[in-house]
Amino acid sequence: MHPTYPPEPWRIKMVEPIRLPTPTERREALLDAGYNTSLLRAADVFIDLYTDSGTNAMSDRQWSDMMIGDEAYAGSRSFYRLENTIQQYYGYPHVIPTHQGRGAENILSRILVKPGSHIPGNMYFTTTRTHQELNGGTFHDIIIDEAHDPADEHPFKGNVDLAKLDRLIKDVGAEDIPYVSLAATVNMAGGQPISLANLAETRELTAAHGIPIILDAARAVENAWFIRQREPGHADHSIARILAEICDLTDGACMSAKKDSYANIGGWLAVRDPDLAERARNLVVVYEGLHTYGGMAGRDMEAVARGIEESVEHDNIRARVEQVAYLGDRLIAAGVPVMRPLGGHAVCLDAAATLEHVPRTEFPAQTLAAAIYLDSATRTAERGAVSAGRDPVTGDHRYPKLELVRLTIPRRVYTRSHIDFVADSVINVHNARATIASGLTFTHEPSVLRFFQGRFTPADRMVQSRT
Ligand code: F0G
Repeated sequence: MHPTYPPEPWRIKMVEPIRLPTPTERREALLDAGYNTSLLRAADVFIDLYTDSGTNAMSDRQWSDMMIGDEAYAGSRSFYRLENTIQQYYGYPHVIPTHQGRGAENILSRILVKPGSHIPGNMYFTTTRTHQELNGGTFHDIIIDEAHDPADEHPFKGNVDLAKLDRLIKDVGAEDIPYVSLAATVNMAGGQPISLANLAETRELTAAHGIPIILDAARAVENAWFIRQREPGHADHSIARILAEICDLTDGACMSAKKDSYANIGGWLAVRDPDLAERARNLVVVYEGLHTYGGMAGRDMEAVARGIEESVEHDNIRARVEQVAYLGDRLIAAGVPVMRPLGGHAVCLDAAATLEHVPRTEFPAQTLAAAIYLDSATRTAERGAVSAGRDPVTGDHRYPKLELVRLTIPRRVYTRSHIDFVADSVINVHNARATIASGLTFTHEPSVLRFFQGRFTPADRMVQSRT
């Protein structure tokens, strides 16, 4: 247990009312949503832990900077502020703004991935892999095996398995590997960090073959925090310094500013190679907007720039990660199976362990997320087989080892009593797990990113209606 709850380094200046719907309202809302928490209306949600993406509370400073946003179509002053800030904290010389992270992934994948390409990565992320596949590439998971075991306590479960990477390079040839895609932290593994030592070793291997590394920097500040806490030699270093060291070991980055940077929208692609930057600027005008706004308003770029500065402040990142740990520690103390060690942005429930009696074909994580909503109007996200989708070659469901429900904590939004309310509900559902008689089955399955819009019905009801 953490001995004390870290007091938030902010106080509340403006409030947004939220309401707990009645049990009947919750049942109706869940039916309307096809048992998919992604399809719930936010007004039917009390505590929204669906994502930490774009759900941040901005600071008074961010809001005041938005007032001075320069909305010039071309050459906005706000762009140059953002560019300077990214260069200062992330260290990449060429910055291409995008509307959010997947905009950057689209541009990068269109430039670098072609049919026959192979992209190794430390576990997949939904949108990242989809862009790679849409351009004809094949993703290869090269994360260490420990990352696929929810109970393993390895401090850096985001690390690359160098033997896996080496084997892949030998098997497919370096010329068909346009880049290695490395996330810090690894979302689908529950927010697990990569160590600087492992990143350096990976860099050594890829550099020997002329393969660049592209960082998914969405939660790299959280990764920097874990390096400071867990990796020998960094305990006295600032978060800004560690973040710069992470980026130094990579050739470019895709960024969703909706995460670390405390913004509600925004993103960027940044690279060291001027030719790559030129090609990215040519594409950004097609898909996002001019290369000096990329789909963001001037005021959004101001909010992101200020958010980057705030994100590396010690007290901010400490409170952020320790709030996640507080929730995780309460669940662990009550015997709820969760992904270990606790990650940076979320506590992930091991749904396969909690709902042992629900077969994987009935999506235990989707089922558990629905049960938690029914209990307390807390919205969580499925991160298991539904998110993993189907194999593009065989068409079969992909069943990842991790069948998780993600309780994702928005930054600076909820207080300790909200977190306690969630913990009480999850413990309640866990203790009553035997009453969940059946899992879920698809009634509507979209072909791409099906977890967003898929619809379900209880599997036992499906069996009854067929007979
Ligand atoms: N990379 C990672 C690691 C992410 O977590 C996300 C988004 C993206 C890229 C895409 O960025 O949403 O700005 O287009 N993750 C959100 C989530 C959606 O809930 O985990 P985006």
